[in-house]
Amino acid sequence: QNTGQSVTERLHEICQLLKDHITYYDWVGFYFKNGDKEELKLRTYVGAETEHDIIPFGKGICGQVALSNENFVVPDVQAQDNYIACSFAVKSEIVIPLFKDGENIGQIDIDSETPDPFNEEDERFLEFVNQEVAKIL
Ligand code: SME
Repeated sequence: QNTGQSVTERLHEICQLLKDHITYYDWVGFYFKNGDKEELKLRTYVGAETEHDIIPFGKGICGQVALSNENFVVPDVQAQDNYIACSFAVKSEIVIPLFKDGENIGQIDIDSETPDPFNEEDERFLEFVNQEVAKIL
């Protein structure tokens, strides 16, 4: 069924599905560790264009998750010191690390224009999405 479709294309479809079906998911993307470098690289996304296709470990919400290996839910991005703004419309963000064979190799990043929309259900659901994604990597 998926013969010929690349992993990036499949990831893009997942981003599109998530954005289309969950009203408060306004930007959905996957970042992965960029080879041996201490940085993340944007693989694919759906939503407003972004300049942040490379994010050094430790920088912004994404860069912090690359080091902490933990979910990061941000109800109000303006209250964060270590935050990389993509668009003024973004109010909140959730980043869930993606593990392959126990190693944090990337993350799903979702921005919302709704204040404080993310709850534990989003965390559990996106952890599940990442587990499924790990199987096709
Ligand atoms: N806001 C993120 C940067 C990536 S954009 O949301 C696409 C951060 O602070 O890491």
